[in-house]
Amino acid sequence: MHRSIIAFTCLAAALLFATPGWVQEKITLKSTSVDLPDPGALFPGPGADAVNSNCLACHSTEMVLTQPAFPKATWEAEVQKMIKVYKAPVDEKDVGAIVDYLVRTKGKS
Ligand code: HEC
Repeated sequence: MHRSIIAFTCLAAALLFATPGWVQEKITLKSTSVDLPDPGALFPGPGADAVNSNCLACHSTEMVLTQPAFPKATWEAEVQKMIKVYKAPVDEKDVGAIVDYLVRTKGKS
């Protein structure tokens, strides 16, 4: 009795999986459309190479471009914070060009 219930269950499951219509229905994929921030956006303007190659590994340009204008010393400290606190792999020789770009783009005296 017990055995026949198991046998019946297996048979029913096998039939269910063997039915092409049922399987097809299960794997129908639907597309949906969502708007995400553009992860490919680069820093604009001349001299942006240093920031584009050093500052986009962890966050988008917006993290920088939506900041208020800061004096040079603040941007220098910010770049050092990225390097020392967040371990940004920034080439030392690029630091000057990065700070110059930041001051030109979001600087104040
Ligand atoms: C290794 C990862 C990493 C890299 C590379 C990186 N950052 Fe950041 N940055 C962070 C993290 C983490 C935060 C803090 C995010 C948060 O608070 O949500 C941050 C935040 C910031 C902020 C917002 C203010 C603040 O201090 O929280 C600015 C501005 C910024 N980064 C500029 C830069 C610039 C310029 C560069 C290139 C020199 C850079 N980041 C590269 C990780 C990184």
